[in-house]
Order: sequence, then structure tokens, then C-alpha cells
Amino acid sequence: MAETKRIGILGSGDVAKALGKGFAAHGYEVRLGTREPAKLESWKNEVRGTVSVGSVAEAAAFGPIVVLATHGAATEAVLDQAGPRNFSGKLVLDATNPLDFSHGMPPGLLFGLTDSLGERVQRKLADASVVKCFNTVSSLKMADPKFQAGPARMWICGNDPAAKRRTEAILKELGWGGAVDVGTIGAARWLEAMVPLWLLAGQALGTWEHILQVVR
Ligand SMILES: NC(=O)c1ccc[n+]([C@@H]2O[C@H](COP(=O)([O-])OP(=O)(O)OC[C@H]3O[C@@H](n4cnc5c(N)ncnc54)[C@H](OP(=O)(O)O)[C@@H]3O)[C@@H](O)[C@H]2O)c1
Repeated sequence: MAETKRIGILGSGDVAKALGKGFAAHGYEVRLGTREPAKLESWKNEVRGTVSVGSVAEAAAFGPIVVLATHGAATEAVLDQAGPRNFSGKLVLDATNPLDFSHGMPPGLLFGLTDSLGERVQRKLADASVVKCFNTVSSLKMADPKFQAGPARMWICGNDPAAKRRTEAILKELGWGGAVDVGTIGAARWLEAMVPLWLLAGQALGTWEHILQVVR
């Protein structure tokens, strides 16, 4: 029997809403998790597909895949609220960035460059397969992205090769050309560090629809 396409998303911001809408459009049952489910009522009514909203624990327990779309500084506390056991054996797609705007633009990193939020998440969710994914692109481009140069690939990293293959298949479902797998979760240090550069490039080029890619 085919696996149920169920995905829980921790978050209520632009990333959670964009990915929730995108996954629902591709046939996934989606549950968003937030401290305030009421604030997502209008979003829920606008989105086509099967979407629901609950607590972060309910979203983490919802399906075999969990997306982390929480504010970087709050992410570890949210995982504690959600209950690390709710992530056991699951694929966890970590879209978060530990950005520190306390000194203005470009932001620094709360945990870098000798650690990363991706690694901290994997340490906290030791029984889950964490794959850093979606953190290097705008929420505007996460699902069904269109680029002038044609299909693009998403930067990913993580410790579990099978989880990364599954992530690449999911990315292709969402309209990506595939993934660029840059290694273990330790590479999250560099995928997170790409984000201040992405912001500077956006300021320089006057766009927020760009992505950083390798061409050859
Ligand atoms: N925006 C983008 O285009 C983009 C692109 C790539 C990656 N990212 C990363 O993706 C993540 C989500 O970004 P976003 O822009 O969608 O939203 P955000 O404003 O960075 O975060 C919103 C989420 O964080 C939670 N949150 C904030 N403070 C909290 C606290 N003190 N305790 C518990 N939860 C807290 C909120 O929970 P409640 O729902 O309970 O209020 C909400 O779900 C961030 O890590 C960001 O760096 C963003």
C-alpha cells in the first residue's frame, strides 16, 4: 500500500504557509503547528487541498515527514514544546536559519561557524533524519519555483543518505530540478552562512526572487 502523504509543518510564518500551500497542491495532507492556531484560520480557508492547524506537538506527530519553519532563535525551544519523541524515525526537513539581526544588515549567525542550527537540531532529534533544505531560498520560491535560467537544484545536507534521496524526490515533486547534496549535517554551517550572502546579493541586484547556484 502506498505511504500516506502526510506532512507536519512547525511554523505559521511565510515559510510554513508557502510550503503548506505547496505540499497541499501536490496531494499531501498538511498540518501546520503553532502556539496560536486561530491566526491561521483565513490561510486555511484560502488554501486548496487538505490542510489543518494544531499545536506544534500535533504537527510533529502528524506524519512521517516534518518541516521546521520556525524562527531561528526559537527553534530549539519549539522542538522541546513539540516533544522530541514525536520526531523519532522521521524525515525532518530543516528550513530554519539562525540569523542574528542585532547588529543590522547583513545579519550574523547565532551559531556559527563552528556549529549550526542544523547540527543542533540533529543533536536534539537524535532518532530522526534531519536534512537541511529550503533554507537558502525565499519562501516565494520554495514550491513550484520558476527561474529564467530554467529548473534549479536545492542545496541540501544531512547524515542519512536514504533521507537525502527521499528529500530529492520530494523536491522534484515540488518542481525543483533536484538537489545539490553537500554532505553531512555539518555542512549546514555553510548552507546557513549562504543566507547573509543571499541577502547582500538581493540588495545589490534589487530582487528577492534569486537563488545562489553553481554553474559549469
Ligand atoms: N521568510 C523566508 O523567505 C525564509 C526563507 C528561508 C528560510 N527561512 C527561515 O525559515 C524560518 C521561518 O521563517 P518565517 O519567515 O516563515 O517566519 P519567522 O517569523 O522567522 O518565524 C515564525 C515562526 O517562529 C515561531 N516563533 C517565533 N518566536 C517564537 C518563540 N519565542 N517561541 C516559539 N515560537 C516562536 C512562530 O511561532 P507561532 O506560530 O507559535 O507564533 C512562528 O511559527 C526562519 O528560521 C527563517 O530564517 C525564511
